[in-house]
Amino acid sequence: MTTYIGTATSRVDGRAKVTGAAKYASEFNTAGLAHASVVTSTIAKGRIARIDASEALSVAGVFDVLTHQNRPPMATEDSAYKDEVAPEGSPYRPLFDDKILFSGQPVALVVAAESEIARFAASLVRVEYDKEPYVTDLYHQRDKAVALKPAENPFAPPKPRGTAEQVFAAAAVRHRGEYYVPIEHHNPMELFASTVIFEADGKLTIYDKTQGVQNVQRYVCNVLDMDSDDVRVMSPFMGGGFGSGLRPQYNVLLAALAARALKRSVQLVLTRQQMYVLGYRPAMIHQIELGANARGTLDAITHEAITVTSQYEDFHRQETGWSGLLYKSAHAKYTHKLARLDLATPSDMRAPSAAPGVYALESAMDELAAALKLDPLEFRLRCYSERDQHSDRQYSSKSLRECYRQGAEAFGWDKRTPEPRSMRDGTELVGWGMATGIWEALQVPIAVRIVLTANGHAEVSCATSDIGTGTYTIMAQVAADMLGLPLENVTIKLGDSTLPQSPVEGGSWIAASVSNGIVTTAGAICTELLRLAKQMPNSPLAAATPDEVALADGKLVNKRDASRAVSIADAMRHGGLDRTEQEKTTTFDDDGSHAHNTHSAVFAEVKVDEQLGVIRVTRVVSAVAAGRILNTKTARSQILGGVVWGIGMALHEETLVDHQFGRIMNANIAEYHVPVNADVHEIDVIFVDEPDDIVNPLGIKGLGEIGIVGVAAAIANAIYHATGKRVRDLPITLDKLMPATS
Ligand code: MOS
Repeated sequence: MTTYIGTATSRVDGRAKVTGAAKYASEFNTAGLAHASVVTSTIAKGRIARIDASEALSVAGVFDVLTHQNRPPMATEDSAYKDEVAPEGSPYRPLFDDKILFSGQPVALVVAAESEIARFAASLVRVEYDKEPYVTDLYHQRDKAVALKPAENPFAPPKPRGTAEQVFAAAAVRHRGEYYVPIEHHNPMELFASTVIFEADGKLTIYDKTQGVQNVQRYVCNVLDMDSDDVRVMSPFMGGGFGSGLRPQYNVLLAALAARALKRSVQLVLTRQQMYVLGYRPAMIHQIELGANARGTLDAITHEAITVTSQYEDFHRQETGWSGLLYKSAHAKYTHKLARLDLATPSDMRAPSAAPGVYALESAMDELAAALKLDPLEFRLRCYSERDQHSDRQYSSKSLRECYRQGAEAFGWDKRTPEPRSMRDGTELVGWGMATGIWEALQVPIAVRIVLTANGHAEVSCATSDIGTGTYTIMAQVAADMLGLPLENVTIKLGDSTLPQSPVEGGSWIAASVSNGIVTTAGAICTELLRLAKQMPNSPLAAATPDEVALADGKLVNKRDASRAVSIADAMRHGGLDRTEQEKTTTFDDDGSHAHNTHSAVFAEVKVDEQLGVIRVTRVVSAVAAGRILNTKTARSQILGGVVWGIGMALHEETLVDHQFGRIMNANIAEYHVPVNADVHEIDVIFVDEPDDIVNPLGIKGLGEIGIVGVAAAIANAIYHATGKRVRDLPITLDKLMPATS
């Protein structure tokens, strides 16, 4: 009985968003709100020798300048700073002491009556440093990178199988390649911001830009030694997160510190430049070896990744594991090394590990297909794996073959001529490339509360976030269907730490988790209404069990005989209730018998100006298998966004570090290039049917991440097909291409 699930329902928060009624963290205000501005370090490593804030303090309207010397007390032990998704190590503690760990680190906070005054005064704070030697160049550190031990943590490389190195050495057709992915930054539309309301009783109400209000709430309580009831964190709307808001950002702690120091409300908004510090996709080097036999199937895969982390935390994801998972190969071996640099700790960024790891794998697969003289799609079909290659488990569902078929057909792949430089359009070389995408179908324990009133209105609440993906909307759709109500009778509350428990919104796990959470709680509502209905005289549901009834059209109905029904209003009135409330936690007990993944097949067309090397991505077809699609409109937007980001990853995005100063050079969206409208042409999104009654009751797999995976490789492969030139370091800028096209 679904009316809304699976449809192209427009965003329930759409009007609020376009009219400005949906407020971001920096748009909340209160009487007497003070504004803060951060002073950041100009060196990459060392100590603060002296801070002179006297000139800043003399500016009219400046209330105070906080430094590590005069800030209020904060926790000293590492554990207090460990948030829900912190990696191994000692988290960075803002304004804690005189140590400088990376360039751009906050060293002082100016608090003033106006943000312009704070920012001006911040420019007057004089800081002297004792510098120490530092290193920010991955290539400089690659030989010192340290290998992770297998199974050291959940993100360590999977166990090897067979004898990949020996089999590769003896393989009939071999490819070995090294691929580079630079540091990339998230660049969400909304800046990091926190508005901390200092309540009369000293409690803090914090509007923060975050993907996890409860994660931030616990962090602030732990670090400032405050009671759980004294800190409330809210994030009703977000202008994009992409992973940058998974961990608490330093602005929230500094604004809270300042509010406590001054006993007044404080707002801190970071500048775009200041966003280029905490959290980024780490630079990484991938070395891949693929060995095939003369029949054109894979025998051996080795994948080594060297990824960047900071000096104080061990951030990494399982960058190598995708390789041996995706394709059938009897032998596979993985190595993951961490290279420490004097930069801030990297973070998750859309499809962490898969976007860069699969770029490397799918580039290598294309190169091996060329060596085998096989069509790249045909090669992948020959290596198709029906089972999870790591654990030899069956999939709960896997419609990748159908993605290949429908994607190829929509793209017209069969008209491709195999030789590089064999297709043209006037002065442009035309290239067609393809790649596979893969991500996990994750789900997390989550609690949902539903309050249903006798007049048929429901309020559904959960502390999850809507990072812009459409969580409000899919929650409303699922609740409306499960409660048998019109969509407009459902109100969604989220992004508030006082609501029922939710982990951070990330990893593409929230849609599946919260939707099935709504199913559980709606089931409890149904059971409660049945209890009331049974007590009615001559109840038509007297003999019904909870399994036999459902809510539809404002009534509790027998699923096999719709004529036996009791209206919600009658059941409640009879029980003397005007509302019923249920809160349930849903856990996803996995018996481990099945693997759960999402997949995609990405086909890209590029046109490359033969004289100038200018690349245009003129067409992309992305065929996605991600279980049940809750909302075809918001889902398509997710994939479109992922494809656009994949274009950026392939052609534009690169955070450049000046290793002389250990400092990011292009910390702004003028010089950090992202795709603009002129870079984005035709994008066709196909959702392949993928029923799955094993993964979870609603068969949802999530799709925040899968859209970007494979796109950069498909474009890189298309560029090779167009030009005959293989560029193995991203982004593929025209200077790297010019020699081959001239
Ligand atoms: Mo996504 S990188 O889990 O926000």
